[in-house]
Amino acid sequence: MGKLYIRGGRPLSGTVRISGSKNAVLPIIAACLLPTSPCTLHDIPDLADVHTICLVLQHLGAQIKRNGTTLEIVPPIKPNTEAPYEFVRQMRASFLVMGPLLARSGLAAISLPGGCAIGSRPVDLHLKGFNMLGAHIEHGYGSIRAEIGIGGLQGKHIYLDFPSVGATENIIMAAVLAKGQTVIENAAEEPEIVDLANFLDAMGANIKGAGTKEVKITGVRELHGVTHTVIPDRIEAGTYLIAGAITGGNILIKNVIADHVKPVLAKLFEMGIAVYEEYEGLRVIGRKHYNAVDVKTMPYPGFPTDMQPQIMALMTCAKGTSIITETVFENRFMHISELKRMGALIKTVGRNAVIQGPVTLSGAPVKATDLRAGAALVLAGLCSKGITEVSNVHHIERGYEHFLEKLQNLGADIWGSDLDI
Ligand code: EPZ
Repeated sequence: MGKLYIRGGRPLSGTVRISGSKNAVLPIIAACLLPTSPCTLHDIPDLADVHTICLVLQHLGAQIKRNGTTLEIVPPIKPNTEAPYEFVRQMRASFLVMGPLLARSGLAAISLPGGCAIGSRPVDLHLKGFNMLGAHIEHGYGSIRAEIGIGGLQGKHIYLDFPSVGATENIIMAAVLAKGQTVIENAAEEPEIVDLANFLDAMGANIKGAGTKEVKITGVRELHGVTHTVIPDRIEAGTYLIAGAITGGNILIKNVIADHVKPVLAKLFEMGIAVYEEYEGLRVIGRKHYNAVDVKTMPYPGFPTDMQPQIMALMTCAKGTSIITETVFENRFMHISELKRMGALIKTVGRNAVIQGPVTLSGAPVKATDLRAGAALVLAGLCSKGITEVSNVHHIERGYEHFLEKLQNLGADIWGSDLDI
């Protein structure tokens, strides 16, 4: 497994360009099963998760060609309807092919995604939506088989118990070719949902209200291929905002939609961090110390759970007591034990973490347990005394394109060994 080494203490400076959004491109690639003609996607990041979803689509019969950051995807005329465990095990977002397969073929057999480090990650809300649209669902041998009746998929009013991002995306993709209108109430409002809906509407779908709590989808008969550029990755952007702050640096972040990082900007402002909107992007200017703040992770437009580990690392530099409440995932505090190995003063009480600061962290060997936890450990290494060794960096490579290179270009004293890049 690859390792990253960071010698801390250098303020970052320079410019970094944010890549296309991992969490927008995964459902959009899955949606390329829906049209009857090819799609061209631009600004597609070179990430392990993107490779995995492309393997899944190829297994289902799609032809995919990558040319730099552009993907050409030719959908299958008659898709294979089985996505085996080997793919879903690698990445649970493979489950997002179920909605498109049901819409195109009326049948899908997908291995049940297991949990992951941050939580059990059930798919009950996805299945509730499919069932309400008329699919018959069967569980067996670790797989879920969904098949629609002779009447095909029929639009329905679906209430989501929780504004699940994946369930909202999967149900939208199933409903675009259903008969009649589907209403998803308590839908997720993330920008990635809006990007998916814009992509589908360009194909000829009829979706209203994406990005709000109520999404209305009126089914159409057929969809055609389109060209689309995915939105920038708001979590990658937030991670580099914190990299600039935690090192007391001054960096310009290009290709970012300021609106999408508003919840993070609000917290950075509270901490006393200056972020300026310039013509080419967002500039973050760090300082020596910051104010302690409280953060509660919430579905969008609340503070994103995917930025929780990263802001926790920053809170170790804040003067006073900060509290983080993680409301989205039940086990997203595994980075705490690793941060404590670096000298962080953090206590957990249930879903709350209490962080005392300011503390001068010291480099140590630490282990990435998931994508964002890994990024947080690198951020902590950037402001630590001495050298930090982060192992299991394959987690980081799943969601941060050219992470090592981008940080080196910003002046970080960071290098790697046995990396898969
Ligand atoms: C998406 O995961 C993101 N992944 C996650 O990003 C992100 O953390 C999450 O949304 C929340 O914002 C992608 O978009 C590929 P959810 P998803 O369904 O769709 C519960 C990263 O680091 N739930 O909104 O799986 C679930 O257990 C990753 O980039 C059900 O109970 O998230 C969790 O507690 C990590 N039943 C909560 O909802 C369901 O059927 C949020 O899950 C579905 C979800």
